[in-house]
Amino acid sequence: MGGERTERKNRLQRLSSKKAGAGSATGKKMMILGIETSCDETAAAVVADGKSILSSVISSQIAVHYPYGGVVPELASRKHIEAIAPVVNTALSDAGIDSKSLDAVAVTRGPGLVGALLVGFCFAKAFSFALKIPWVGINHLEGHINSVFLEPNPPPFPFVALLASGGHTSIYHVTSHTRYELMGQTRDDAAGEAYDKVAKMLGLGYPGGAVIDRLAQRGAPDNVAFPRPFIDKSTFDFSFSGLKTAVRRYIEIHGDDYLHRIPDIVAGFQEAVVDVLTYKIVHAAMVKGCDHIAMVGGVAANHRLREKIRHDAELKGLTVHIPSVELCGDNAAMIAAIGYHYLKNGVVSGFGDDVFSRIKI
Ligand code: KG4
Ligand code: ZN
Repeated sequence: MGGERTERKNRLQRLSSKKAGAGSATGKKMMILGIETSCDETAAAVVADGKSILSSVISSQIAVHYPYGGVVPELASRKHIEAIAPVVNTALSDAGIDSKSLDAVAVTRGPGLVGALLVGFCFAKAFSFALKIPWVGINHLEGHINSVFLEPNPPPFPFVALLASGGHTSIYHVTSHTRYELMGQTRDDAAGEAYDKVAKMLGLGYPGGAVIDRLAQRGAPDNVAFPRPFIDKSTFDFSFSGLKTAVRRYIEIHGDDYLHRIPDIVAGFQEAVVDVLTYKIVHAAMVKGCDHIAMVGGVAANHRLREKIRHDAELKGLTVHIPSVELCGDNAAMIAAIGYHYLKNGVVSGFGDDVFSRIKI
């Protein structure tokens, strides 16, 4: 647990010059500063032409929220205010440019915590006003979907995308960078939310996804069988709250005995989530006649899910696109990536625009 505790400390994750052309003559490329503050990560990135990451900086607030077992919105806003200017400055210096080289700013507009979103959104307004450059507000979910275009060999259109994060679990038919048809979504908890709640129940801390991912590798999924909710339904919707309840019931029935079985419990829980997510996205690809699947969002970092989707998709002759782990969770590079496509088509935001807490795409 000592190692986990270290990881829980505030971390400033920096990923510079990751892909192409960093710091080089970017010539006529459109240089976009991305800003993301929708939840508990303050992030800024510089991306050229919507695909080359020149820098990506993520300041996590995990240590701040850890004692509360979840994100405290008021604390999140305050921490974003402290972090936003240094994080943006670091992103610019990591990219080797100064602010005058920027062509535009793209910032998360929603969904998310309103007080948190407002910090990045107001910063972006003021920053672009001072620099006299355009800016655009971005739907966070479109950012996640477009994260696959920051990797080599992105999927051709159309493709189906599974977005699994702490707030959303949805399947989309994606026909362009900015056009998506929602095929199904969770009716209750998101997949990441189920991971976080099960981890909390078992006293494993917050956020639970990465901890369960690691612990499950020591357990045997078949030792504790949990239901696969909605797997046989002719819908692309999901439901994870019953699965969470099944874990709670298991704990209640087994008394303190469950403490010796935690790796098996989390492995069994994870296998149920992974089975449902994999079955539905592969089925969605077959129904839509798509040869390519994208999997994005924080839960896409999960080792077992990555392995299972790749395995099952390969059996059906499908190609799977999953961003590298650092691009699965919240980051600003994905916001700059989708911002490029709006800005290129003349879509900009105005100073009267506001953030939003909830939306479906
Ligand atoms: O996309 P994201 O960073 O933020 C939202 O937009 O919600 O996703 C965060 C979620 C959390 O619920 C977290 O527990 C989950 O992603 N997560 C994981 C893993 N890493 C993060 N879930 C399963 N396995 C992981 N390795
Ligand atoms: Zn997210």
